[in-house]
Amino acid sequence: MLYNELKPFPKDFLWGASTSAYQVEGASEEDGKGKSVIDMMDHPEDTAGFTVASDHYHRFKEDIRLFHELGLKGYRFSIAWTRIFPEGTGEINEKGLQHYEELIDELIKYGIEPIVTLYHFDLPYALEEKGGWGNREVIDAFVEYARILFNRFGKKVNYWLTINEQNTLILHPGAVGVPKGGKLPTKTSLYQQNHHMLVAQGKVMELCHEMCPHSQIGPALNMTSMYQATSKPEDAIAAHNWETIRGWSFLDLAVHGKYNNLLWSYLENRGWQPEILEGDLEAIGKGHPDFIAINYYSTATISESTGDASDVSPRAGDQQIMLGEPGVYRAEENPYVDKTKYGWVIDPVGLRLTLRKVYERYNLPIMITENGIGAPDVLNDDGSVRDDYRIDFIQAHLKQIQWALTDGVEVFGYFPWAALDVVSTHQGYAKRYGFIYVNRGEFDVKDLKRIKKDSFYWYQKVIESNGKDG
Ligand code: BG6
Repeated sequence: MLYNELKPFPKDFLWGASTSAYQVEGASEEDGKGKSVIDMMDHPEDTAGFTVASDHYHRFKEDIRLFHELGLKGYRFSIAWTRIFPEGTGEINEKGLQHYEELIDELIKYGIEPIVTLYHFDLPYALEEKGGWGNREVIDAFVEYARILFNRFGKKVNYWLTINEQNTLILHPGAVGVPKGGKLPTKTSLYQQNHHMLVAQGKVMELCHEMCPHSQIGPALNMTSMYQATSKPEDAIAAHNWETIRGWSFLDLAVHGKYNNLLWSYLENRGWQPEILEGDLEAIGKGHPDFIAINYYSTATISESTGDASDVSPRAGDQQIMLGEPGVYRAEENPYVDKTKYGWVIDPVGLRLTLRKVYERYNLPIMITENGIGAPDVLNDDGSVRDDYRIDFIQAHLKQIQWALTDGVEVFGYFPWAALDVVSTHQGYAKRYGFIYVNRGEFDVKDLKRIKKDSFYWYQKVIESNGKDG
């Protein structure tokens, strides 16, 4: 063992929990909200849609009272761009601003820090029709949207997140829905979108520093570590390939404003490199995030690519289940870890490793903005929800965060997914993550009653004791 004693959580550690607008709010056509890509894409037919979700839009006051009872010090939520600009640009919808103002004020009333994600997968459909992130005009639209939010909420919000999981959007676009007709964008167009998002993000971070000098802002990526399947040197290269292409290349741009050399060679080799206009790299480089937010769920195990189609696993992939890519890597099973019921690897030690690597590489404080276990929780007749597996999952991850703190990594907040049950990105309502059970089925929305799970009472003690009991 490297140390005899674990460091305690810092005194002002931000204990929180997360959600995103389209997965929790519902009210998808109310108060002037415009349609987003999520409203217009195809989602699996046998799972719940997002029109009612958890009805947080109408019940946020009741939910925040529960968050207060849980003891949350922070709540991470996203603002739906389409509530502010129904068409993505142009006319502002005051009702949308009012809604988030009330939500932020309610949080502050209870001493809960609002952590605001500007964009969590739900691009306004009006912009998508003009080419979405593939169209450079979206850069200005995003900057204008952010300007309105900084102007209205800048004095009340201390922490902003730019784009949630840009790497999921680019590498696993199907995880957030498939455009009608079923065709996903080509790699060339995805990397062009990626470039525009990076320029937009750089400009928005710079703007935040100008308009809200007391606030902090950072990117929120889905980060993880890749293990090499054996000590074969070629497996090590493959693991490094995928760890770089999937994770580091995004953070290298967000933090240093530089295209990672390996990513660039990979893109060039395939003819997938984006068009970069004069001033773009400068704009990306001027962003200077104040911290890095990471969403961590799983690790993956990698071996050398055989170079042909057999590299691509026949399993269904998503943001956590790696598929393989000819010439780059093959995905392997890891015999040392368990999996969730949905096939996601459970690897708390991988979180410590990922935190170490992120900190060593960028030297910026880290906020963990997602981590959790999706499970088909059951509401018992006595009104209880016995989610001991969630307690075990979070407990094990918290222990590894403490190890990372002991390693000298600066972690200042933990926001498990999710504060309450929400609709999963592509696996419906039965895949639950919350500390609070929401009484609805896949299609039957029932009474949407809020019920505290066992993990609620457990996390309450963790927060109360600043991580000592748990
Ligand atoms: C993250 C997303 O990738 O994982 C969330 O940021 C998502 O929006 C979470 O809900 C869990 O994934 P899923 O697919 O189980 O809902």
